[in-house]
Amino acid sequence: MIKLSSSSADIENAAGILKSGKLVAFPTETVYGLGADAFNTLALARVFEVKGRPRFDPLIIHIASLDFLERIACLDGIDSQRREQLYLLIDSFWPGPLTLILPKRKEVPDLATAGLPTAAIRFPSHPIARALITLSTGAIAAPSANPFGRLSPSKAEHVIETLGDSIDCIIDGGPCPVGVESTVLELLPVPLIRRPGGISREQLETLIGPIQEDSKDSADLNCDHIKTGRFAAPSPGMLQSHYAPHIPLFLHSPEEMAVLPYHKKEGYLFFSAQNREPWKCRTSAGQVPDKCKAQTILTLSEEGNTTEAAAHLFEYLHILDKTGVSCIHAEVLPEEGIGAAVNDRLRRAAANH
Ligand code: TXA
Ligand code: MG
Repeated sequence: MIKLSSSSADIENAAGILKSGKLVAFPTETVYGLGADAFNTLALARVFEVKGRPRFDPLIIHIASLDFLERIACLDGIDSQRREQLYLLIDSFWPGPLTLILPKRKEVPDLATAGLPTAAIRFPSHPIARALITLSTGAIAAPSANPFGRLSPSKAEHVIETLGDSIDCIIDGGPCPVGVESTVLELLPVPLIRRPGGISREQLETLIGPIQEDSKDSADLNCDHIKTGRFAAPSPGMLQSHYAPHIPLFLHSPEEMAVLPYHKKEGYLFFSAQNREPWKCRTSAGQVPDKCKAQTILTLSEEGNTTEAAAHLFEYLHILDKTGVSCIHAEVLPEEGIGAAVNDRLRRAAANH
């Protein structure tokens, strides 16, 4: 695997590698993506293979100019109300962590959309992602750059450690600032959040009005569905067990977390210092040497800021996963703003066990 920096020469080099049909991992503002030219079916097939991702789970197509929107999406049949909502969303949140599901053009390979009549389209704000897309073919299909079902990568090291030489190239652009994936919003027939993410429900509703709850049909899919292949999911990536560390994760309310006993061999992921400090005083965790504590008791945001917590989520889960503890106890965040997306990832991580 070639490791590249964020210099212009390196990004140009990476764009050439993409155009030749190879796979390039790159940073976005949410998480690292595993990119392939969206119109190259052989490259798309390799993305599924490298990730161990089932073919029924469609990819997000990343663009870096609005001209490309209509190369991917067919907007002809969209009524004026939805069209107005679409452009409001684009004006407010693109570039940024919002993915829109829209009817696809027939030129978009079925492999990218897993045979669905719709395509997921995202215009990332990260400067490296934008430069890479612009210098390549203008449309990069990219799932998160992690093995299927595992923790998402918020740093280049996470990609190198998990996918390694099975990919051709990575651009190291440092940590991803948002830290959780984009919000996936289906617009038709009515707006529906398929995956909570970097743009909150509140932000979307302020702009376009009430958004329907996801029916949970796809969220209830589990591994048996994968094994038997018997399902029809509108957003197939929303599997119940996903974003999972290798060890069990138990999710606790702040009240439960506050009364947990401390075990040296277990890991603790607090939302803020507010709950951690009284807990530490009460348990023997207060006596653990700092060196050990640093790796087993982590706090997503000392001040209890959900945006900061999201930015640390995957990095801290990766640390706990590697630190040799037998399980992770994680504290639920307030279910508002980006906290809802963090809780969604924690719930899915917990569903594995
Ligand atoms: O922030 C992100 O979105 C990152 C970065 C790399 O851009 N990408 C990412 O991709 O999270 P991935 O493949 O891990 O998740 C894509 C999600 C999946 O849940 C998938 O099922 C859903 O988007 N999706 C893709 N196309 C869809 C479609 N046509 N209809 C419904 N859901 C779709
Ligand atoms: Mg993913």
